[in-house]
Amino acid sequence: MTTRHHHQIDLLFRLALAALLTLGATRVILDNLRNNNNNILLRHMYTIRVPIEVSEKETIKDNCNVFEGKWITDNTSYPLYSEQSCPFLVKQTTCLKNGRPDSFYQNLRWQPNACNLPRFDGLKMIEMVRDKRLMFVGDSVQRGMFESMVCLVHSAIPSYVKTSLHRIPPRKVFRVEEFNATIEYYWAPFIIESISDHATNHTVSKRLVKLDSVAKHSREWEGADILIFESYVWWMYKPTINATYGSLDNIQEYNVTTAYRLAMETWANWIESRINPQTQKIFFTTMSPTHLWSWEWKPGTEGNCFNETGPVEGSKYWGTGSNLEIMGIVEDVLAKLKKVKVTVLNITQLSEYRKDGHTSIYGERKGKLLTKEQRSDPKNYADCIHWCSPGVPDTWNEILYALLLQDYRAQ
Ligand SMILES: *[C@@H]1O[C@H](CO)[C@@H](O)[C@H](O)[C@H]1NC(C)=O
Ligand SMILES: *[C@@H]1O[C@H](CO)[C@@H](O)[C@H](O)[C@H]1NC(C)=O
Ligand SMILES: *[C@@H]1O[C@H](CO)[C@@H](O)[C@H](O)[C@H]1NC(C)=O
Ligand SMILES: *[C@@H]1O[C@H](CO)[C@@H](O)[C@H](O)[C@H]1NC(C)=O
Ligand SMILES: *[C@@H]1O[C@H](CO)[C@@H](O)[C@H](O)[C@H]1NC(C)=O
Ligand SMILES: *[C@@H]1O[C@H](CO)[C@@H](O)[C@H](O)[C@H]1NC(C)=O
Ligand SMILES: *[C@@H]1O[C@H](CO)[C@@H](O)[C@H](O)[C@H]1NC(C)=O
Repeated sequence: MTTRHHHQIDLLFRLALAALLTLGATRVILDNLRNNNNNILLRHMYTIRVPIEVSEKETIKDNCNVFEGKWITDNTSYPLYSEQSCPFLVKQTTCLKNGRPDSFYQNLRWQPNACNLPRFDGLKMIEMVRDKRLMFVGDSVQRGMFESMVCLVHSAIPSYVKTSLHRIPPRKVFRVEEFNATIEYYWAPFIIESISDHATNHTVSKRLVKLDSVAKHSREWEGADILIFESYVWWMYKPTINATYGSLDNIQEYNVTTAYRLAMETWANWIESRINPQTQKIFFTTMSPTHLWSWEWKPGTEGNCFNETGPVEGSKYWGTGSNLEIMGIVEDVLAKLKKVKVTVLNITQLSEYRKDGHTSIYGERKGKLLTKEQRSDPKNYADCIHWCSPGVPDTWNEILYALLLQDYRAQ
């Protein structure tokens, strides 16, 4: 690793963690935001059932890698919901409301090279979660994916159907009563146990992970029917991390890559011993890329994702923020699983192109929208880690939806 590379990683980690701090001040979400009590009777008299027919058009061809493709403009169908129509978005991601002048980032559709993705149908999605729990586990980037899913579903269901979002730290629970369906988010930034596990009061500069412990979290995951895991940016604060393995008195500094592998193995052991592949589905979301250095896509410039209004042109753009060693570890660990198949949501490459999709200066820092002064200093204050919603996380969910639909069809 060159010195320069090291320096960049160090920087990525610092910026990332500063931005991630925002979780600490997440506001309490209003419960039962849009429930129309007048229709309680109606709700009990009628049960909505959505036939899940999967047409030929909606079927992903066997040999099609949905993660290879390009972004194309689609002003008619996109965005799939609007900021105003989704009451569940946190302030951090509503970029337009926060003053972002351009909205083209909402009008892009991911087009795989070898096939089409089915159009996202929120009713079919929630039907697939009927009498089930779907749970996202990870950090605040994963929380963005959870919120996107909630908005995608919410925008499709009739207004008389009761929906609610409750905050039960470290969880957020979205329920659609009519379907007895639950979409949840569980805060576990390292997946395994750490001192950063408190949903709101977690230290950022001081980190300590327990590489061999996951039980405290996994107890809460065991009843879920569909689980989507993610963990990356919190590992990347420094090239080394303090950790224990075995005795809690024996704290040692580990290389991040060594620690990440041990953590993933702990998680994998839990997957193998506790997951029933007949009734549960497991996904793993790969690294969400960052766009902290504009010279990587526009040589000679000194900026970051700020003021970017369109994707990177050309193919196979890959920035230094996405660590190939970490990607390799994920691949290794998943390949060694024997009993349970974990489906990879390999969103790194497709998101790499989207230098325009981040919240930039139209988001938050430490739980507050940026001040005018901070906005005038994008070099220090632009958030090039989190994403605007509607936006890139919707595509991750469209792919998740497409894969679930294929499975459903195969049953
Ligand atoms: C789509 O909308 C953007 C503005 O949001 C505009 O710049 C672009 O020209 C439009 N494209 C088409 C094909 O209408
Ligand atoms: C409702 O969903 C839960 C899972 O979230 C399930 O355990 C329960 O059996 C369901 N209730 C009914 C009446 O099907
Ligand atoms: C946050 O956690 C620290 C350390 O565990 C504790 O000292 C502090 O009182 C907590 N703050 C709040 C607001 O709970
Ligand atoms: C590990 O902990 C020690 C003692 O608290 C601290 O001095 C050191 O900086 C920490 N290392 C890392 C990589 O955070
Ligand atoms: C940590 O990483 C460095 C640089 O990649 C390597 O030289 C060193 O041997 C590693 N240490 C351990 C304990 O794996
Ligand atoms: C943003 O980019 C446009 C064109 O790329 C440029 O004209 C404008 O000056 C930039 N704005 C800022 C504030 O840097
Ligand atoms: C994800 O896709 C990239 C190519 O974009 C590939 O290099 C990598 O191995 C894949 N990762 C996994 C875990 O499958």
